[in-house]
Amino acid sequence: MKLSQLATAVALVVAGSTAMAGEVEVLHWWTSGGEAKSVGELKKIMQSKGHTWKDFAVAGGGGDNAMTVLKSRVVAGNPPAAAQIKGPAIQEWASEGVLANLDTTAKAEKWDSLLPPVVAEGMKYKGNYVAAPVNVHRVNWMWANNAVLQKSGVTGVPKTWDEFFAAADKVKKMGFIPVAHGGQNWQDFTTFEDVVLGVGGAKFYQDALIKLDQKALTSPTMAKSLETYRKIKSYTDPASPGRDWNLATAMVIQEKAAFQFMGDWAKGEFTAAGKVPGKDYTCAATPGTANAYTFNVDSFAMFKLKDATAQKAQADLAAAIMGTDFQEVFNLNKGSIPVRLNMDMAKFDDCAKLSSKDFVATSKAGTLLPSIAHGMAVKPAAEGAIKDAVSQFWNDDKISVADGVKSIAKAAATQ
Ligand code: BGC
Repeated sequence: MKLSQLATAVALVVAGSTAMAGEVEVLHWWTSGGEAKSVGELKKIMQSKGHTWKDFAVAGGGGDNAMTVLKSRVVAGNPPAAAQIKGPAIQEWASEGVLANLDTTAKAEKWDSLLPPVVAEGMKYKGNYVAAPVNVHRVNWMWANNAVLQKSGVTGVPKTWDEFFAAADKVKKMGFIPVAHGGQNWQDFTTFEDVVLGVGGAKFYQDALIKLDQKALTSPTMAKSLETYRKIKSYTDPASPGRDWNLATAMVIQEKAAFQFMGDWAKGEFTAAGKVPGKDYTCAATPGTANAYTFNVDSFAMFKLKDATAQKAQADLAAAIMGTDFQEVFNLNKGSIPVRLNMDMAKFDDCAKLSSKDFVATSKAGTLLPSIAHGMAVKPAAEGAIKDAVSQFWNDDKISVADGVKSIAKAAATQ
């Protein structure tokens, strides 16, 4: 081939690919160090396919801010191509008729056989895929700084709440902060669900926080959960109100605090800081919850678009999300595990391997539970109401346990 012919051939290939290259606007709330690194991998993949990535990041852990902004964009008739939406909220958005049908991509890429059935179901509305899942986060994790534990004379990670408070007392005596807490309502709620699971067990969690059964919600076990929950607060520092979750993780990373209760996106921060599990820090199930698993599956719902090139970019995004390359590199950075089945876990650390093993084991045992604090268990309206009631209790020591129980049960009746 002559040089001029080669140039023409190259020009044709380039023209061919740019003809189908489009812009993909992606709304997400991944703005912490570990999160930004993770979503950056998706951007790279899309750019390598010739598409333009329009970043629509709305800061705020847990995503409440992002969801408010999303609503106003959709109401204005200008939705992004994709938005980080998960759990029952996917069904609510789909019922508005604004989500795109991803079946062509899902069939071509064999999603039905690559996803755990419970996850696949959640991505569909009336049998059609409308969202693509990214990962599986485990929520019931406790993160501990090994040096702080060692300096405080704490041997072994506490497995029960009694052991936890004994360890926390030792840590306090040595002048460290026992619990790094970010005082925002979704973080208060995250700790709450850990405690309910640890105190009441999987069946109780299911009755109280998934079925929203009034009998369970008003039971002595709920009162005991609130007592334990309130006791944890006395081990947090006075500067916790309003603190972002990643700043709380930084306190553990920097040897200021011993423990944090947070899902494994916290591990993304340890990883970004170059810390190694086992050596610098420990991941363990929150007290009393080793045989259960609260899951939180991140996913992107796709909105209906008119432009053909934008639709192509959107389909490519959906395919990339479920691809093995992305599933591996994203989850290595994010702290979660791949949602795609049968992935090679060789490059993953011990926390991810334990998460993967426990995901399978708890699924068999019937103790794999959707996280209420992370939008997996109940509809957004009830979730929001319970979250507020829990947070009020956490923030106001004058609310008695009996009144706390009452107001949480009342909030759970919100439709
Ligand atoms: C999301 C995670 C995210 C975390 C903190 C959770 O609800 O599922 O992906 O890292 O919030 O922002």
